[in-house]
Amino acid sequence: MGTTIETDAQLPGKPPALEISKVTKGFAHRRRGFQQVLGEVSFSVDEGEFISIIGPSGSGKSTLLKLIAGLESPDQGHVRLTDEQIAAPSRRLGVVFQQHVLLPWLTAKQNVLFALQAHGASRRSAAERESLAEHWLGLVQLSEAQDLKPGELSGGMQQRVGIARAFALESEVLLLDEPLGALDALTRHALQLQLLRLSEQQRRTFVLVTHDVDEALLLSDRILVLSHGPQARIQQDLRVPFRRPRDRTAIESSEDYLTLRRELLESLTAQP
Ligand SMILES: Nc1ncnc2c1ncn2[C@@H]1O[C@H](COP(=O)(O)OP(=O)(O)OP(=O)(O)O)[C@@H](O)[C@H]1O
Ligand SMILES: [Mg+2]
Repeated sequence: MGTTIETDAQLPGKPPALEISKVTKGFAHRRRGFQQVLGEVSFSVDEGEFISIIGPSGSGKSTLLKLIAGLESPDQGHVRLTDEQIAAPSRRLGVVFQQHVLLPWLTAKQNVLFALQAHGASRRSAAERESLAEHWLGLVQLSEAQDLKPGELSGGMQQRVGIARAFALESEVLLLDEPLGALDALTRHALQLQLLRLSEQQRRTFVLVTHDVDEALLLSDRILVLSHGPQARIQQDLRVPFRRPRDRTAIESSEDYLTLRRELLESLTAQP
């Protein structure tokens, strides 16, 4: 029912929001010596595009995201955010890490407020920051729990605080490293729909790392498959053509969905 009409995310002549160009990265280990984790990795992301990076465990997905975030520097190549080369963390980039990193002595709301202050939203008044924090906690259904500390929240709730915090920062690009990875299937399913809704309302640029093929197909405009390391590379760059706003049931029952899903699973299991 018209779920498979291709959307044209690439506007001609517009520079990409994010450009990763011939990036390599390795680490020196005491026992194993130098190991090149990422081979030459190049790709670009258009403004407002949602891309997912999928690949085997240990292939270098988190490393790649840290390079984009400016938390690690590439051995070769560069990461560019529109016109700026990224060499250190920038307030133009927001990150949700694989493990939720909340400050345990602060409440959910104070955690969001702390990030807003640290991230340079101090040009806003205290009242504005407070209503921004409340707004985002409300959007992830945590209004009732905003005054609880991380130790008093479930894993899923803590992860939602992490998501609210990243969205509240108003950065142009959001980097999400398996934000739903540690959750049970039911909570994960519900949060995927929240992420879908938030990302469609926001139209920011998103880079999501995930192990979950269905999550990638639901949320992304494009899926990049990272090959098995060492020297991991982008082995596939797949466009996901479902029109937005997306309806999970409608896309999951379409022929295109099953074809793309099969293609992705084959690509992931064909690795050495
Ligand atoms: N700071 C570091 N020092 C040394 N080695 C590192 C460091 N960070 C990552 N590595 C190595 O790089 C490789 C890739 O790690 P990375 O965390 O990027 O994988 P990943 O694809 O995110 O895996 P997962 O899916 O399990 O999260 C691993 O072999 C890891 O040991
Ligand atoms: Mg990882």
